[in-house]
Amino acid sequence: MAKFYVTTPIYYVNDVPSIGHAYTTTIADILTRWHRLQGDKTFFLTGLDENSQITIKAAQKKGFKDFGKYTDEMAEKWKKAWKELNISNDGFIRTTEPRHKKVVTEFFEKINKMGDIYKGNYKGLYCDSCEAYLTEKDLENGLCPFHKKPPKQISEENYFFKLSAYKEKVLAHIEKNPGFIQPKTRRNEVISFLKGEVKDVSVSRPGTDWGITLPIDEKQKVWVWFDALINYVSGSEGNWPAELHLLAKDILRFHCVIWPAMLMSAGYELPKKLFVHGFMTINGQKMSKSLGNVIDPLYLKEKYGLDAIRYYITREISFGEDGDFSENGLKARLNNELANELGNLVNRTLVMIEKKSAGKIPAAKTDEGLQKKLNLKKIEEQMEKLELHHALAEIFSFISACNQFVNEKEPWKLKGKELDTVLYSLADSLRIISILLQPFMPSTSEKINQQLGVKAAKLKECKFNLLKAGAKVKKGEILFKKVE
Ligand code: MSP
Repeated sequence: MAKFYVTTPIYYVNDVPSIGHAYTTTIADILTRWHRLQGDKTFFLTGLDENSQITIKAAQKKGFKDFGKYTDEMAEKWKKAWKELNISNDGFIRTTEPRHKKVVTEFFEKINKMGDIYKGNYKGLYCDSCEAYLTEKDLENGLCPFHKKPPKQISEENYFFKLSAYKEKVLAHIEKNPGFIQPKTRRNEVISFLKGEVKDVSVSRPGTDWGITLPIDEKQKVWVWFDALINYVSGSEGNWPAELHLLAKDILRFHCVIWPAMLMSAGYELPKKLFVHGFMTINGQKMSKSLGNVIDPLYLKEKYGLDAIRYYITREISFGEDGDFSENGLKARLNNELANELGNLVNRTLVMIEKKSAGKIPAAKTDEGLQKKLNLKKIEEQMEKLELHHALAEIFSFISACNQFVNEKEPWKLKGKELDTVLYSLADSLRIISILLQPFMPSTSEKINQQLGVKAAKLKECKFNLLKAGAKVKKGEILFKKVE
């Protein structure tokens, strides 16, 4: 049994999830469910990054004196949101948990033992929102490129990690393993960064009570990024190394440079793959609190139904690249692809079987011409390459082929064996479509199964003619309501 351990970034706890956070988490969910369909042993980890100064500011703004109480309340909100979005994570890690603190302490001690930690003076720039040390080279017009604000000038005594000592080793690993960082554009970006000057990084900060105490100096706290990255080990429940880390391009360097170096120093295996996706914009604009255009995924669920959103974000954005979210685009896909294609196919198939076959699956075999329209191998390859948008398009091209099959065969004019063949072909195809859609739209898949009277199945059951004749079907409510 293959293992599939996938992670999302652990999100800052200062706010509730946006559609951007939901994007990465939904992709992780789809991949996990796909691996479960294959029969793999999966472990899907997500969680919260709580030891940041950002947490304190958010808690204070809301009048909390007890920051732990604040993070507890926020953590419940995140967990509830993921449940409502049908996210099937196996693990959830919070960086304020004792199990995490323990692993961070051990990890730091291992690196220290290797002689990779030294005390120094950091004088330079720091962006509070990235929680990151920046150089002049990182800035755009003097501003942090992600938060569009000037970084602070700081000068403090803290401890450094000898990142420079791992530069060649990390580079060699990336060059030897072409699939380690994907897509290629991001891999190239990391390679060119590593070929330039790589400075050591500070891994602790003085002057704060919030965070994990540095094992070698109780006046310092572990720098929040050093602490946060270790969640992938501390939350792994014995599954390390991860098969896949998912993240967006905003946190590329932490994951693709610092994290592998930390693991090498502490003597851990490296993750198998890091996939760095793009940014989701809203109607062409960056999503940000200051622009007031942050979209709550729960609001979208209420308005359009969850599976329509899961479908839209996966289909619309080429996974890896930047992409745009618009409610008009969502409505168009909901009306045309979900209601007119998938919903219609389910509805017309069930109506015909109820009317023409007394609500029972007739005894027949699936039309061979129609069978050829499903390219299962291609879908499997696309999923393997993480081209989720292509895989979904391929599944929908089979759905269109089924609708076309109805239009061409005109079953309303047929009788006897010919009619049975068409009805069986459609129901058998729907059974397979439902398996393939399960990772993307789990509750839609469940509804299709209920109507067909079949149980949830695995990928190996995506073979034609497995549907039992004589089984009773039951037409349900229409799957997707159109939105004007
Ligand atoms: N806490 C750090 C991550 C530590 S991981 C060891 C952090 N948190 S965050 O809350 O800012 O989350 C950033 C991540 O959220 C992105 O890398 C991405 O996975 C997801 N996204 C948030 N908004 C997004 C978009 N608008 N578009 C795409 N991804 C989005 O950074």
